[in-house]
Amino acid sequence: MRYILSSCKNVSGEISVPGDKSISQRAFILNSIANGRAHVGNICVGDDKASVLRCLRSLGVRIVEHSNCRITNSQECFEVFGKGRFGMSKPVDMIFAGNSGTAMRLIVGLLAGSPFYSEITGDDSLVKRPMGRIMKPLSLMGAEILSQNGNDLPPLLINGKSLQGIEYKMPISSAQVKSSLMIAALHSEGKSEITQPSFSRDHTERMMLSMGADIVQDGLKIIVNPSDLTSKNITVPGDISSAAFWMVLGCIHPSSEIKIANIGINSTRLGIIDVLKSMNANLILENEREINNEPIADVIVKSSDLENIEISGDLVPRIIDELPVLALAACFAKGQTVVKDAEELKFKESDRISATVEGLSNLGADIIATEDGFIINGGKKLRGGNCFSYGDHRIAMTMAIAGIMAEGTTTIIDAEAVDVSYPMFWHTLKIICDSLDLRKNE
Ligand code: S3P
Repeated sequence: MRYILSSCKNVSGEISVPGDKSISQRAFILNSIANGRAHVGNICVGDDKASVLRCLRSLGVRIVEHSNCRITNSQECFEVFGKGRFGMSKPVDMIFAGNSGTAMRLIVGLLAGSPFYSEITGDDSLVKRPMGRIMKPLSLMGAEILSQNGNDLPPLLINGKSLQGIEYKMPISSAQVKSSLMIAALHSEGKSEITQPSFSRDHTERMMLSMGADIVQDGLKIIVNPSDLTSKNITVPGDISSAAFWMVLGCIHPSSEIKIANIGINSTRLGIIDVLKSMNANLILENEREINNEPIADVIVKSSDLENIEISGDLVPRIIDELPVLALAACFAKGQTVVKDAEELKFKESDRISATVEGLSNLGADIIATEDGFIINGGKKLRGGNCFSYGDHRIAMTMAIAGIMAEGTTTIIDAEAVDVSYPMFWHTLKIICDSLDLRKNE
């Protein structure tokens, strides 16, 4: 499917975005292994939600959908009937994690210590993503995990075992790896100490703590003792990674004012806001508050005169999913923007270094790829062109926002990728972009 669009004169409105994908997935998984039952509301919509639900249901977890949920104050919610630690059932078929790296890595952490044999795979993108990063530490804990093809890629074959706690220094900063190990550690004998090289998103730590897990955070080290969780009702905050598209559009469009309500502003995810502010963005947070141990706020963004920036080091994990759309912002900033230390971008839903550079270059941007990021010279006008999604939701949405800013018509090819995290994206685009000419071509 293709979407064809062109520029618009004004961008304005008050919008909300889907619930945070990372928090939604953890809320489903952790409530499945908890004791009791809980409602999870304002979840992320889209294929990744469906993937994690399918995985958990194939392990025998009962999850029931309700509308007009008063417990979570949301239109739609899911009630998860926890099966307790070690309560999962042996799946009948191969588990299918779709496009979701988070679902696969976290659920393998759970399967590693579950006493049965299981297999898990994913779609064309997920079967190309490295799993050695979880296979190695989980094996050190005593798990038996093999790749069907003898490499470190899915499908994975898991022979669940009694696990031992681990002392592990993670070589890369990855919340998926950390969370996978933390879930395995709950199912192990003895204490585990997991040390990360820099801070990555800490939703698992926050949620486990609020569910009564015996965990301690000591700087970059997380100490996990095997423990039971108690089910917890969760209202998920809006996804800052989805809001990032509107923040960037608000900054780079010459006539804009957008308010995005109820966005999660956890400091481990705040890189996009910190970076845009350092680039001189006209962006403020209002109404800061907390729900379920996660901070949230409304974000107001207006047309801005952006300046260049250098992004590297510990900042990278805090902005990892927003770097493609940040590259677009840099096209409209004064001077040269450099993104370094972001090699991890190559292992996402697509190789996001080459996908970002190719897509924006097709629209006339001055951007080059480096080994671990990109370099952008701002100020070059964009013109319409053809952009592929490479099957990656964040690339498709970045190119759509670029199309709004380009002169002429832009076509987003394989635009259905957007459905992974944000099926309502096109609808919201149409609402906030004044008299937008947006056409869908099957
Ligand atoms: C995620 C962590 C990040 C991020 C992904 C979601 C999570 O990946 O890119 O979209 O929910 O834990 P890594 O932790 O592997 O960097």
